Amino acid sequence: TTGLITLDDGYGNTGSCQSAITFIDGEKGILRYRGIPIEDLAERSSFIETAELLIFGELPDEEERTEFRHLLSENAALHRDMRKHFDGFPADAHPMAILSAMINALQTHELHDIETTDAAHFKYAAAGLIAKTRTIAAASYKSHIGQPIAYPRYDLNYAENFLHMMFSVPYRDYEPTPEVAHALNMFLVLHADHEQNCSTSTVRMVASSGANMYSSVSAGVNALWGRLHGGANMAVIEMLEHIRTTGITPEAYLARVKDRSSGVKLMGFGHRVYRNFDPRARILKDAADKLLDAMHVTDPLLDIAREVEQAALADDYFASRRLYPNVDFYSGIILRAIGIPLDMFTVMFAIGRTPGWIAHWKEVTDNPRQRIYRPRQVYVGNPLSQWVPRSER
Ligand code: SDX
Repeated sequence: TTGLITLDDGYGNTGSCQSAITFIDGEKGILRYRGIPIEDLAERSSFIETAELLIFGELPDEEERTEFRHLLSENAALHRDMRKHFDGFPADAHPMAILSAMINALQTHELHDIETTDAAHFKYAAAGLIAKTRTIAAASYKSHIGQPIAYPRYDLNYAENFLHMMFSVPYRDYEPTPEVAHALNMFLVLHADHEQNCSTSTVRMVASSGANMYSSVSAGVNALWGRLHGGANMAVIEMLEHIRTTGITPEAYLARVKDRSSGVKLMGFGHRVYRNFDPRARILKDAADKLLDAMHVTDPLLDIAREVEQAALADDYFASRRLYPNVDFYSGIILRAIGIPLDMFTVMFAIGRTPGWIAHWKEVTDNPRQRIYRPRQVYVGNPLSQWVPRSER
């Protein structure tokens, strides 16, 4: 059997941990942030309003929203010395490596106590990390293409500002259409949290030792990078491109997936919790359709994705294993249409997930009875053995 692990959450419960942040019903395909259905938030809330909901537990009123907006703007710039790190990364450094390194480095420039969640400071630090994660991502892209960094504008919301910081040039500001800005906002809302997934559990694990928010979130970025987790959104596009360029039919590709010796997985399909459709996949599929229509563009990969999905859902191998599209299956189509480079797709997931990671760091850190996570295992190694001198080995 695989090594069994139990998480002791300090409440005396082992085997799982308690959290009040996100609710998932995998059988019914339900996802709620602090009790509010993801469908409502995706359509009607801004990413930052959603971030405040996750972190502070309630949707903000006007005053709270305005205060947090100021904090985001005041904290978006990187310390001058932080920008020197970009000069040290190779031109082809992976943006996820840069993001993880820079988030960890941020703490060296933090002026306040970074291990407490006392109200005044924590709000400042949370807004700072959410703002700076966006700045680091955009600055790494600008650094990669040799363009000057664009600073955020106060008149733009978070998603609009990200697009401005990515695509504006000194002689012309990039003005996203409402459809593009709405699609990116929805993408970020849908990625903002997802209960005890691999990267969030990593953040909680690190937080349980008493580590600060930056160290915990940086660890979460690294866990998210894996192809089975956040890295899947890039792998889906690579898979669809492979189908397109080789001309292999979706059915032939699925045959390779079903041949276990190939080691090929249907990327963007399957989920440990959802045994039915991932509600985010439904929303993203519809959003991809609407965005491409609004932009009057077509993407052959979207057509291929639809064909692959249709073939897989009709195939007993996938149906019998209850494998359905997950959040990563259609999200890349939206990012491609917006013009985000492929190697930044998982960075976009990380930007979206940052508020959730902050909320979970706070939940662990605020718990006076929190104990350090110390998973156990089933030992399957050697029995008691004698030490033997090297000359006799
Ligand atoms: C995310 O946890 C979260 O909430 C994550 C996430 C979030 O918001 O944080 O939702 C984001 O990470 C989504 C998942 C993105 N990853 C992928 O799309 C990669 C492809 N998916 C698989 O690797 C897999 O489905 C996982 C990793 C998502 C889930 O892995 P599990 O739960 O360990 O599934 P499993 O390996 O136990 O699968 C059960 C069966 C196996 O077959 P049998 O051994 O029973 O015959 O289904 C098969 C698997 O081989 N299977 C797949 C498959 N996923 C599972 N076969 C082919 N293609 C796949 N994608």
